[in-house]
Amino acid sequence: MKGLILSGGKGTRLRPITYTSAKQLVPVANRPVLFRVIDTICEAGITEIGIVIGDTGNEIRRAVGDGSRWGVQITYIPQEQPLGLAHAVKISQPFLGDERFVMFLGDNCIEGGIAGLIEQFEDSDYHAQIVLKQVSDPRQFGVAELDPQGQITRLVEKPREPQSDLALVGVYMFDHHIWQAVAAIRPSFRGELEITDAIQWLIDHELRVFAYVHQGWWIDTGKKDDLLEANRLVLEDLEQQLVGYVDRDSHITGRVVIEAGAEVINSTVRGPAIIGEHTRIINSYIGPFTSIYHHCTVENSEIEHSIILEHSIVRDLPHRLEESLVGRNVEIARSALKPRAYRLMLGDNSTVGVL
Ligand code: G1P
Repeated sequence: MKGLILSGGKGTRLRPITYTSAKQLVPVANRPVLFRVIDTICEAGITEIGIVIGDTGNEIRRAVGDGSRWGVQITYIPQEQPLGLAHAVKISQPFLGDERFVMFLGDNCIEGGIAGLIEQFEDSDYHAQIVLKQVSDPRQFGVAELDPQGQITRLVEKPREPQSDLALVGVYMFDHHIWQAVAAIRPSFRGELEITDAIQWLIDHELRVFAYVHQGWWIDTGKKDDLLEANRLVLEDLEQQLVGYVDRDSHITGRVVIEAGAEVINSTVRGPAIIGEHTRIINSYIGPFTSIYHHCTVENSEIEHSIILEHSIVRDLPHRLEESLVGRNVEIARSALKPRAYRLMLGDNSTVGVL
């Protein structure tokens, strides 16, 4: 079996972070979402993985490399234009051949247990397998309608009036019949070749499509609050690991990871939280559900329920920073300059909440 990861897209809902970075590379608990997807595919015993890339392709290549870090072989498949998930599958045919494969959306974060499902598909006689999850607002997803026996009757992409609360999770498994399906479908209302329509084609042609309802959590990390929620959920499973330096005046409580080369000086870190490599926390409080990536400095400040990306500085804040996503090389500091005023330099589409 082979693996296919879709890692194109512009990430418009995560601007300004995505002006300079691919959305799939934003870290959740200090590990990029895309790396977590590769981890899961590896866990299922797959060693050949194709990654479909778009405008942010170079950055993805740089971050992931040839796959040797995972002991797998990675092939990059450039997609000229974002013409839909089924289009991405179509252009991957030379790589996939007639083998069964699992396809993951590179921005989906899913609780463990999926690797077993993938292995099961390898030996099954199903032509396709989809993963569903009950959600509160199905209108933003592909939606599946099932009969009382659990057989899929209909799949609809982003329905205005959903007939079920079961959303299609970004994990799909196919055999070679998918090639006929992606060749037969036409672009949808949003001008894309939808994978949902391709699976509906399989069902209409009486091919066996199995629907698995996932019980754990699942987050499509397209927006800030979804990322913070994924971060919270992953941190919930964190195991304590104190590798970096913690001085005697600091207090570490709960499950906390202090990575190599990090320093915690005269501070309190209340888990679950993770402090990245070579990051310094000085005279500060880091509260639950916070991930601070590598080479950051936090001084005389308090941070909770936030993600801070690499090489950023947070200094002398008079109020606690909460529910925030801070990009790379950002500096947030109290200024002693008079008159007392906010002095900002923000990228386009930034959001700032002030007291
Ligand atoms: C895509 C699929 C949709 C699925 C979702 C999962 O939506 O088209 O069926 O439920 O991924 O993340 P998109 O992210 O393209 O809006």
